[in-house]
Amino acid sequence: MSDKTENREIENKKDGKVKICAVVLAAGSGSRMHTAEKKQFMDLCGLPVVVHSLLAFEKNENIDSVVVVTSKEDVHRMLLLSLRYNLRKVKNIAEGGDMRFKSVYSGLKTVEADTDYVLIHDGARPLLSQELIDRCCEYVKIYKACVAAVPVTDTIKIADDRMFIKETVDRSRLWAVQTPQAFSYSIFMKAYNKLYETIREYNSDPSRITDDAMIVENMGDRPVHFVPGEYSNIKITTQEDMTVAEAFINKRGGDI
Ligand code: CTP
Ligand code: MG
Repeated sequence: MSDKTENREIENKKDGKVKICAVVLAAGSGSRMHTAEKKQFMDLCGLPVVVHSLLAFEKNENIDSVVVVTSKEDVHRMLLLSLRYNLRKVKNIAEGGDMRFKSVYSGLKTVEADTDYVLIHDGARPLLSQELIDRCCEYVKIYKACVAAVPVTDTIKIADDRMFIKETVDRSRLWAVQTPQAFSYSIFMKAYNKLYETIREYNSDPSRITDDAMIVENMGDRPVHFVPGEYSNIKITTQEDMTVAEAFINKRGGDI
């Protein structure tokens, strides 16, 4: 399809029909945080971590619906949170799996059938801005598969087995990948179905899948584009990240 035709289709759909769903992942165990409470439910400036990103999607006009993925024991409390914070776009609360990609698949299966695009987002990334959501929605309509990312600022080196430096990587081509990761729903579903077939057929080990783009890179039929991300769009992994996240929120004047 030529770019022109594709753009025209996008324009036609814009007249009311392009539907975008955000799938927010909150089914992890937060093992690196070492706290009794899972990190996605910990308090960050007065709100549970996951509620920050749910409110961001609630507020964004490009987003039509939201699916939250949590572990089985948290489905009920997620439902209570969605009522308490008036999260009207939350259409489904799906049960996650023991690996991130399984949680994504579980969420994808509950997305409304007429959805055109999905934005997959880590519930542990509470600081995403309205501008970043807008950019992801804009890019995915053009490229069909794209991920938020920022240029790497550290020097990255590869070690050998004995912790000696083997190689210094050319930093100018390195990007640190974030979420949202945005895809055409049909392309993404096809790639996921193919992945599950491959795992079944070859009994292959999926433990190296750490993000959604990898699945489209390996199973899909199109290249994945970067969307300019934000250095403030951090993922909460350890206690230190909570301090950094608080500082960012306070710098914004506490505006959530
Ligand atoms: N996630 C999920 N299902 C899983 C694993 C992760 O929905 N089986 C979600 C997490 O809740 C988080 C996001 O994916 O929002 C990113 O994962 P990560 O930061 O690795 O979170 P956890 O797996 O919870 O933390 P850890 O790896 O430290 O155990
Ligand atoms: Mg994890």
